[in-house]
Amino acid sequence: MSEPLLPAWDDQQAAYIADREGRFAIIASLVELHCGPAPLVVDLACGPGSLSARILAALPGARVLGVDHDPLLLELARRELAPRHDGRLTLLDADLEDAGWPAAVRAALGGARPDAIVSTTALHWLFPDRLVRLYGQAAELLADGGGLLNGDHFRFDGRTPTLRALAAAHDTATQQAAWAAGAPSWDAWWERAHAIDGGAALAAERSARFDHRPPPPPTAVDLHLAALAQAGFAEAGTVWQLLDDYVVAGFK
Ligand SMILES: C[S@@+](CC[C@H](N)C(=O)[O-])C[C@H]1O[C@@H](n2cnc3c(N)ncnc32)[C@H](O)[C@@H]1O
Repeated sequence: MSEPLLPAWDDQQAAYIADREGRFAIIASLVELHCGPAPLVVDLACGPGSLSARILAALPGARVLGVDHDPLLLELARRELAPRHDGRLTLLDADLEDAGWPAAVRAALGGARPDAIVSTTALHWLFPDRLVRLYGQAAELLADGGGLLNGDHFRFDGRTPTLRALAAAHDTATQQAAWAAGAPSWDAWWERAHAIDGGAALAAERSARFDHRPPPPPTAVDLHLAALAQAGFAEAGTVWQLLDDYVVAGFK
């Protein structure tokens, strides 16, 4: 059995997100306050399942469907996380850039509609047109009265150069402190992930799926709030912020 990689994933991600646990905590708390103690939750671009794990721990009645398209990260969630949660965590391989992902989610949920759709540190991988489409798909997928919570960096742009510089300096300081305390770098973590049983084949599949995709431009928070409103959410707002790290919410 290889050494567990989820704790090291959390350490390496926390180097890039200054209060990652605070961001998870507000998402779990708002899911509970808005949806009650036993919600059906979809975690979009779940990776190895960090946010899913926080929600399952905070809400013992919750069920979570984690969706991602990285075969290696999904495999880690399957090996290290799913067995700890008595069938409350299921995982789905689907590409959020593919228009068919909501149908795959519906099928995986047996036709049930989720009370909450959540995501962290992930939807910045979508170009703005895809992001607007995804918010619309999420609004359609959600149960009546359901909510979407998306935690991610939304970058300050040329309109706020001082804030942009402060956020960049704060990011650098956060990374230096985490690495000095022993957190693995992104590259070092992936090197370890490639070494798991079957890791080389999963890494090759990951490369085939993602390496050709160009990085999208950064987006500011107002784009997300406008996109949520455009997507059909009756209410959209910022529910948490640390410099350029936010949680935005949309409620049907
Ligand atoms: C930095 S990781 C964040 C993972 C996790 N949500 C967390 O907070 O630790 C970004 C995730 O987005 C996923 N992702 C990126 N593009 C995707 C796509 N088109 N479809 C599904 N997942 C995608 C990646 O595979 C990766 O798991």
